[in-house]
Amino acid sequence: MSARFQAPRGTFDILPGEQAERRRVHLACVDLFTRAGYGRIETPIFEDTELFSRGVGESTDVVQKEMFTFTDQGDRSLTLRPEGTAAIVRAYVEHGMHKLPQPVKLWHWGPYFRHERPQAGRFREFNQIGAEVIGTDSPLADVELILLLGDLLGELGVPGLRLRLSSLGSPDSRAAHREELIAYLRANEGELAPDVRERIDENPLRAFDSKDEGTRAVMADAPQLVDRIDDADAEHFAEVRHLLDQAGVAYELDGTLVRGLDYYTRTVFEFESEGLDAQAATLGGGGRYDGLAEALGGPAAAGCGWAAGIERILLALNAPPPEPAADVFVAAPDGQSERAFVLVRELRGAGLHAELDLAGRSLKGQMKQADRIGARRTVILDEDGGAEVRDMSSGEQEALDLSRAVEALKP
Ligand code: HAM
Repeated sequence: MSARFQAPRGTFDILPGEQAERRRVHLACVDLFTRAGYGRIETPIFEDTELFSRGVGESTDVVQKEMFTFTDQGDRSLTLRPEGTAAIVRAYVEHGMHKLPQPVKLWHWGPYFRHERPQAGRFREFNQIGAEVIGTDSPLADVELILLLGDLLGELGVPGLRLRLSSLGSPDSRAAHREELIAYLRANEGELAPDVRERIDENPLRAFDSKDEGTRAVMADAPQLVDRIDDADAEHFAEVRHLLDQAGVAYELDGTLVRGLDYYTRTVFEFESEGLDAQAATLGGGGRYDGLAEALGGPAAAGCGWAAGIERILLALNAPPPEPAADVFVAAPDGQSERAFVLVRELRGAGLHAELDLAGRSLKGQMKQADRIGARRTVILDEDGGAEVRDMSSGEQEALDLSRAVEALKP
């Protein structure tokens, strides 16, 4: 026997029974973004590798460990997109969108690829919904984006939502804070957990995430970046908080929120659901990236945005699969299937969900099949051109005038 294939590690099939809940999320996004005046953008599944190394950042885990990179026949290095923002800003620059009235408001939906350790809510191919507002540094844009993601998750019914918020300031204040934090950790080295001590130079911020008691005691007094940002950045952040307060949005200030991508400046935020495992509790996150367009060779254009994981949202919703339900099943005795086809097409043309037997079942078998697919009513054609209709829940059956079938069978 030859080996059987499985979907590659960290990937999954989306089967018909799993589509309804996904479709509901998609429709909610289309509706929300249409009402807010965002245009949909789609970019290629793969891009030049350098777009991500420059855009997302050479030192990030995403670029160092997680990219699916390959060389094409023309010897170009290409990468399956691990995230959307770098590509969308690339498209903004490439299509001269800075000449349009600013800001440009975009949304996107599609698959992304990261070579991570698979676990619940963490995949190698996953889907994101996201929004980007490019061409303004106004705090209003940050707040509108946070409200949009909060509203989306709220409308979908995600339970136990928490919003965490911080500001990363500028790359300069970030570098200065890093030096200060390294010095602080060195000064308290003796009380730190060994794994934190070993990574002081490599990743001092990780110390904030440690579960070790000694480390936590040290970190309680550690310098936080949000207290070290410059005046203009602090003013910007104060305005973001003020607008969120005015809008009645609850959030937690979290000076340890860092995010894993290098392009962020100023505001950063994440939405979590309490129902999810800590390892994959973040439903969506984002922030401002005021230097990205220039870093990619474009004009200066401030931007802000977020992305949320569709599979994480679905996990948090934990919705049962919906019952399948057809409006009508058309059953026909042997030799009458042509008539069944005519009727099914007429009903479908009028917008009804109508099915017929495709497996050569007996009339009795067809009635069973109608039951199995959850048909509300079954039309039973007879040998003489007539028909009856059966209500599948009450079992009542009556004659059906086929010339008025659509009207009689409308749900
Ligand atoms: P991110 O935080 O890397 O941000 O990803 C956003 C969301 O995608 C995460 O919160 C999570 O729900 C989902 N996600 C990420 N990795 C995986 C995975 N391996 N499996 C399943 N879901 C995953 C970004 O991607 C930024 N581009 C967001 C942004 C837009 N910032 C500014 N604009």
